[in-house]
This record gives sequence, C-alpha cells and structure tokens, in this order.
Amino acid sequence: MKIMNDSFLKTLRLEKTPYTPVWIMRQAGRYLPEYQQTRKNAGSFMDLCRNKNFATEVTLQPLDRYPLLDASILFSDILTIPDAMGLGLNFIHGEGPIFDKPLQNEQAVQALDIPSMDKLSYVFDAVKSIKNALNGRVPLIGFSGSPWTLATYMVEGQGGSDFLKIKKMAYERQDLIHHILKINAESVTQYLTEQIKSGVDAVMIFDSWGGALSHHEYSELSLNYMKVILDNLDILGYEHIPKIIFTKGGGQWIDQQIIARPDAIGLDWQTSLKKAREITNDKIALQGNMDPAILLGSDKKIEEEVKKVLDDYGRGEGHIFNLGHGITQFTDPDKVDLMLQTIREYSQQYH
Ligand code: CP3
Repeated sequence: MKIMNDSFLKTLRLEKTPYTPVWIMRQAGRYLPEYQQTRKNAGSFMDLCRNKNFATEVTLQPLDRYPLLDASILFSDILTIPDAMGLGLNFIHGEGPIFDKPLQNEQAVQALDIPSMDKLSYVFDAVKSIKNALNGRVPLIGFSGSPWTLATYMVEGQGGSDFLKIKKMAYERQDLIHHILKINAESVTQYLTEQIKSGVDAVMIFDSWGGALSHHEYSELSLNYMKVILDNLDILGYEHIPKIIFTKGGGQWIDQQIIARPDAIGLDWQTSLKKAREITNDKIALQGNMDPAILLGSDKKIEEEVKKVLDDYGRGEGHIFNLGHGITQFTDPDKVDLMLQTIREYSQQYH
C-alpha cells in the first residue's frame, strides 16, 4: 500500500523532504488520558499488548491527537521475547517489569532457547491490524530490544541500576553471557523478520542499557550482536527495510556504530547532533535528541530548545526529530502540540 506521508522513510534514505519529520518514543503511553482509559479497559499492560484491537487503538491515539506526527510505532514491549522464552514476566504497578524466573544459574542459562514465534503471534497480528487501520497514513515502525538490553532484564530479573549480576556473569563466565546473547540475537532476527512480513515499514533496536558498558566492552557485548541482526536481516532479503539502532548513553561510540551499517542512529540528549553528523558524514540519518524533561518546562523553553536541536543539526536532509528517550508520563499533552508545531514551522528553512 502506498504511504501518504513518507517524510520519515525519505529521511531514512537521506532524500529531500520539505520539513524535519518527527515521532516520539513512547508516543502512545501514560501521558495521554485516552491511553489511560484503554489500559483500564484492557486490565493490565500485557493484556493491552496481547489484544490486537486494544494495541491498534492505542497505537493510533497519538496520531489522531497530533496530525503533525510523521510515523507510528507498534504498541508492544521489548520484553515480549523473554516472556515468550518462559521467564515469567510481570508488570508490578509503579515498579516496572519483573521476571519470576531470571537466569541466575548455569542450568537456567543452558536451558534457554529461541522461543517459537507462534508464542508471539499476537504481536504480528497487532502489526497487521495496525497497518490496516493506518490505511497508509504514515509508516509503521516495528521494534525489538537489543540482545544485551534483553539480557540485562533476563539476568537481573528487573530493570537494573548497577547491573552487577549480569556484569559478574559477563566477566566471570564469558561463555554463559555469549550463549544468552547468541540466542537473543537469533530470537530478535526471527521476531523482526515476522514483524516485517506482517507489514512494518522500518525497524528499530532499542539498546536502552548499552550505555552501562565500558568503552572496551560495548562492541563485544552489545554492538556486535546488533550487527548480527542487521546483517541477518539483509541476508534474509530485507535490505530495503530501514533499520535504526539506539544505544541510550552511546553517543561516544558513533564511530563504532557506523560499522554495523544502520540506516539511522538514535541519540540521547547528551550528544550534539552537529558532532554526531561530523562523524557520520551525512551517510547515515540521525534520530533525536531533545531531553524529554524539556516538555515539563515553560512554552518559551520548549520553543527555544526545539530550535536549538534543529539548529544543532543544521541545513540538509537526514534528521528525524525525536526525544532522546521516552516521553515521561508527567507530560502535559498540550506541550507536545507546541513542540510539533515548532518543529514543523522552524525546520522548513533547513530543507
Ligand atoms: O514507543 C512506543 O510508543 C511503543 C511502545 C513501547 C513500550 N515500550 C510501551 C510501554 C516501546 C517501544 C517500549 C520499549 C521498551 N520497553 C524499552 C526500550 C525503550 C526505553 O524506554 O529504553 C524498555 C527498556 C522497555 C521495558 C519496560 N516496559 C519498562 C522498563 C517498563 C516500565 C517502566 C515504564 O517506563 O513505564 C515498561 C512498560 C511500558 N512499556 C509502558 C508502555 C506504554 C507503561 C506501562 C503502563 O501502561 O503502565
């Protein structure tokens, strides 16, 4: 089906667009009252993900509210894969995800296997349903966690801060961590393949915790496995599907990320787009990177900061505006309107 607003896909191909396209990480989420309502109707977060009608409804909510959004993202979660592996995922209200059966001994690690994609068919059904409902309005982004980021949840059993359990495993038993990462990379390859077959127009790998690694270990434990996925997708015939990688806290490793040959690199707000662009040399698109907390600020501050981000990238193609991480649940939805309008008006001079 032809996509009517293809500015996001054009930018990923470094083609000319009349303005800077934008979407927002976690654009369907708790800051929207209509999301809160649907989530209540669904019962729990995972019930929301598992029901294609609910997942479709919430994916489209931000697009209906904000006509200036240029892409949609599948409503799901990165933790669907470890859940399908049988680790027992629970979302405790206000505390985030927790696994009943984390990988905390050798036996558990050796027993780990690639999950049957049948267990994840609810995700692929949601993709088909969302594509149908979008009817070509904007492209749909599919996604997955990076092998390393998934492993942090699988070993720690929850979102970590110091990551000592997984780092102990990585630095004491290299064989075990690489066993997990290999299985994750193969699982993610199959998972993204199925999302692509179901209709997503681009894919993004969220490496939320790659930034917790040392300069020496980042490529070994995180980037190399994202590269395996990107290479595999190309080999499987999906070279034409744009691929975005985003390592939160990874702005100092752009020179390494280039080697994985993504179509775009996502950046958090610690990194200057201008400096990043000097490294990518306009050969790879950049996505980001306003601090989500700016949206808690005054209208004046929001306008100023949006302009600073656009000025930082400067003239030319290849920039997708986004926040540097997910939008916070405490954001006033009207502030998002202001951000989107400012981007649309101010960015035209640069194209
Ligand atoms: O961006 C989108 O709108 C698409 C949906 C999406 C969600 N999670 C929905 C969600 C995406 C792309 C994710 C990715 C995700 N999930 C990541 C990578 C991005 C990042 O934030 O670094 C990670 C680390 C997770 C794991 C996860 N899921 C956590 C830590 C939590 C709880 C904490 C939190 O921020 O709420 C979730 C739950 C979750 N995933 C919610 C949403 C909308 C909130 C659940 C609720 O309604 O209570």
